[in-house]
Amino acid sequence: MSFGPSPSERVTTFQLVAQRDAAAVADWVSKAVLDDRLQSQVGGSRPLGLATGRTMEPIYARLVERVAGQPPVDQARLRRGWLSFNLDEYVGLAAADPRSFMAEMARHLVGPLGLEVGAVRLPDGTAPDPQAEAQRYAAAVAAAGGIGLQLLGLGLNGHVGFNEPPCSPESRCRCLHLSAATRLQNAAAFGGDATAVPTRAITLGLVQILAARRLVLVVTGAAKAAVLRRLLQEPASAQLPASWLRRHPDCTLVVDQAALDG
Ligand code: GLP
Repeated sequence: MSFGPSPSERVTTFQLVAQRDAAAVADWVSKAVLDDRLQSQVGGSRPLGLATGRTMEPIYARLVERVAGQPPVDQARLRRGWLSFNLDEYVGLAAADPRSFMAEMARHLVGPLGLEVGAVRLPDGTAPDPQAEAQRYAAAVAAAGGIGLQLLGLGLNGHVGFNEPPCSPESRCRCLHLSAATRLQNAAAFGGDATAVPTRAITLGLVQILAARRLVLVVTGAAKAAVLRRLLQEPASAQLPASWLRRHPDCTLVVDQAALDG
């Protein structure tokens, strides 16, 4: 099913995939990721683009199950050939800090899949010059050929990665200040204290995200119903960074019933 704004806009549309619940979404998305990885063994395709957050947790858990169900020879090839770049990382948190996105990836993917630590890359949140680190990270993504399949979650304020509104489609990988809304949304990982959430982060920009071959934007749960409605109804604008994803020729929006119904 296609869904998008009026044809007069310089946009393509989202391919909308509606699933019963978050488990069915995890099933669908994990299959897309595994298929992509299995094909990459043959075609030498681009690295994966990964996201963190609660939306991704059941997806990674299902992906780990799916990989475990593969023949041992394929599992070994998947591990050997794995290369992924995450969207973002907090500034000021070391990889060993359990609240960092690196630690989150280690818990949900690197450990359970038995990947090499260097195969799952994120910006370095402890780099002395975060803007220089953002440039280094963008260059590393470019040197790897750009992103192939990019997974994305959706912020309550419409951010993707940490591209906070207002955000232009020309935004590049950079260090930026997080909004109060985003720090509140992510407070759970910081003992519920929004003031403990770092004030800055490094994120891939819309330029790097829109350059991926394929985008899969995942939206689950009733809490996301309002922002999903905005995404489906509003014209593309800086106030809703995720709306720029419609410009991509191959962007699948995978949602569950709770997010659709509210
Ligand atoms: C976070 C992350 C995003 C994530 C989004 C949704 O702040 N930077 O990459 O996709 O917000 O998070 P969640 O899945 O926890 O709702």
